Amino acid sequence: FTVDMDPNAADKGAYPFYMLKEVDEQPAVMRKLVQKYFDEDGKPTIDEELLKSMSEADHLYIVGAGTSYHAGLIGARIFEKLVGIPTSVHISSEFAYEQPLLSKKPFFIFLSQSGETADSREVLVNVNKNNWPSLTITNVDKSTLSREATFTELLYAGPEIAVASTKAYTAQIAVEAILAKALGEYMNKPVAGAFDVKHQLGLVANGMQSITDSKSILKDLSDKYLSKPRNAFYIGRGIDWSVSLEAALKLKEISYVQAEGFASGELKHGTIALIEKGTPVIGIITQDRTAGLTRSNLEETEARGANTLTIVSRHLAKDNDNIILPDVDELLSPLLSVVPAQLLAYYTSLGKGLDVDKPRNLAKSVTVQ
Ligand code: AGP
Repeated sequence: FTVDMDPNAADKGAYPFYMLKEVDEQPAVMRKLVQKYFDEDGKPTIDEELLKSMSEADHLYIVGAGTSYHAGLIGARIFEKLVGIPTSVHISSEFAYEQPLLSKKPFFIFLSQSGETADSREVLVNVNKNNWPSLTITNVDKSTLSREATFTELLYAGPEIAVASTKAYTAQIAVEAILAKALGEYMNKPVAGAFDVKHQLGLVANGMQSITDSKSILKDLSDKYLSKPRNAFYIGRGIDWSVSLEAALKLKEISYVQAEGFASGELKHGTIALIEKGTPVIGIITQDRTAGLTRSNLEETEARGANTLTIVSRHLAKDNDNIILPDVDELLSPLLSVVPAQLLAYYTSLGKGLDVDKPRNLAKSVTVQ
């Protein structure tokens, strides 16, 4: 790397771009969240008023945009599993103008790195008009969404400068998991009691570190598979599908490769027609129940000429897999599987000589509707 000598960018240190620095900070953010959200006895320190209010809800509505929406997709799976309250996830710009039929006792969770996204603010205005309780999970203390919601929990990720969100995504998922654990225990749910989120986040931090230590492998894979094609796919099932949406967004926004995150079982219902010789298809495989199915779907694309790559949890790995992730609880696997995708996007953008931190047509915070 060359060292950027721009004096205004001093806090990038020796990093050529903020994005790479922010990807590398993720293990430290995970450790910080453990410090901030657990007491000495290992109990989550979530405000009891918040837990009470959430426990009275009959439905949780998670609202966010872009990467924050994608973090919500993971959070919903975690809340439903650990807490047992039905949870749905909504794109804020849709919810604001086409509000779905709501349950009798809704509770709203706003996810927003900046706390300023106009579409999400629009939803909160209406939530407040109806006196519905809400929580904002944000990186920016005293941001608008934080001030206007009933409760706030912080991401403690430190400033995120690169337009492409990385450490905020993983911090959002970690805070959702801590909150789900605390709420599930508050509601006496045995699954939540058995879920040792503190220990798991320690494993995640170490796992993230080992992935960020393997940058040269990811750079080589990006050069070989992603530098030329105009299109690419990430595929997976369940939680892996949710991660594939975020993985594809990263690739799109900074490397301008037209990428799609896809439910792997849906490919054969139409989209597989797009696969041609050399199309990169990256499979995310971290779930015991669906690993074999995603592998078959990858083979189907390979038979039509795709160049396939795999991001696989260690206990499911086979000899010819490309990127092996350390094992963590399946529910937290997105915290690891997204990291190679962030780095693949980074190196693809870098290889094309693009401005990784400031992709065209995009702003860090979208304050217009
Ligand atoms: C992701 O890389 C983007 N920067 C974008 O999708 C972002 O997550 C979205 O605009 C929402 O921003 P927020 O989290 O600050 O509300």
